[in-house]
Amino acid sequence: MGSLDSYAAAKLEDLERRHQRRSLADTVREDGIWVERNGRRLLSFSCNDYLNLTQHAKVKRAAIAAIERYGAGSGASRLVTGNHPLYTELESRLAKIKDTEAAVVFGSGYLANSGIIPVLIGRDGLVLLDELSHACIYAGAQLSRGKVLTFRHNDVAHAGELLAAHRAEHDHALVVTDGVFSMDGDLAPLAGLLALTQEHDAWLMSDDAHGLGVVGGGRGTSFIGGKHVEVPLQMGTLSKAIGAYGGYLCASGAVIELMRNRARTLIYSTGLPPAIVAAAIAALDIIEQDPDYAVLPVQKARRFTRATNLPEAQSPIVPVVIGAEEETLAASALLAEHGFLAAAIRPPSVPTGGARLRLTFTAQHPDEAIDRLASLVREKILIH
Ligand SMILES: Cc1ncc(COP(=O)(O)O)c(C=O)c1O
Repeated sequence: MGSLDSYAAAKLEDLERRHQRRSLADTVREDGIWVERNGRRLLSFSCNDYLNLTQHAKVKRAAIAAIERYGAGSGASRLVTGNHPLYTELESRLAKIKDTEAAVVFGSGYLANSGIIPVLIGRDGLVLLDELSHACIYAGAQLSRGKVLTFRHNDVAHAGELLAAHRAEHDHALVVTDGVFSMDGDLAPLAGLLALTQEHDAWLMSDDAHGLGVVGGGRGTSFIGGKHVEVPLQMGTLSKAIGAYGGYLCASGAVIELMRNRARTLIYSTGLPPAIVAAAIAALDIIEQDPDYAVLPVQKARRFTRATNLPEAQSPIVPVVIGAEEETLAASALLAEHGFLAAAIRPPSVPTGGARLRLTFTAQHPDEAIDRLASLVREKILIH
């Protein structure tokens, strides 16, 4: 074996030994909630399609019509010839929902975070991250080449201490946090963080990947409880509740124009296929027309947390933290035996010792199935 292959094989063996080796399983998603995997039909509690819009007839029709009209791919970067007319509509719709002057759509949420942060922060800047921020926020922070510090999860006071100690050494400072935390389902203290950034002349950016469509009346984390926390940089993705693909930033006109000029992941990457942009627009129509539908995923998650005595769900994401990788894999296998898909999430997606089942609830999960899942989790998993 050459040195390249033996390097790869040794790395894989190490992952195997730590129960952290992953594999791709062919999964046919039949509708919003049922999947077929390894020849079995399973009810999925592991999908971010919170409103089941990936399979909605209107969303699919919009995508098909866009392909018929504009073709399958966009053909080039948006700044060359990939900026098909559907982008203008999607961006103005996003800006309206988030109540900002403008918006820009990227190829994915990962590309958005990797592109946005280096536009705002350079070598002399400071990026302060909630320690549980998503991996692509870390990626963007590292690409900025500025100083990167983390504050304890949701600890505004700790973020304040770090700003007080370090802000003066840097030309600019950016504080970034998930709005809804992707692996824990809890919410960021956006109002507290905003006040802090204003006090220290720093900028606040929230990643609302898991908030848009499902909290704050469908408008996201800045709008919970009828309040509006005016976060100046609201990033998110179109791949979860929106059921399509792509990332976005909603911000002032000047910031968005700067992104269009400087964000490398926008400039040097091909524009999204027209069908995807059309699907996202159709999904936003559905969310706007039926706000009662948007509350269902959190309601379903709360039905589960009540039945299992877990802390009340704040979003459609409910972690059942088990700790060790092997036990988490066993818990996932046990639920599969009972017809449920509940993926085991292991480090490095979560901190060491924090392996878990990350359950996600969607609008169309039947209450009866949630109750059955809750009994199993209560009686066979949480008991240990
Ligand atoms: C909080 C958060 N931000 C960003 C992303 C990346 O978004 P995308 O899947 O569109 O690349 C995800 C999804 O994995 C996420 O959970």
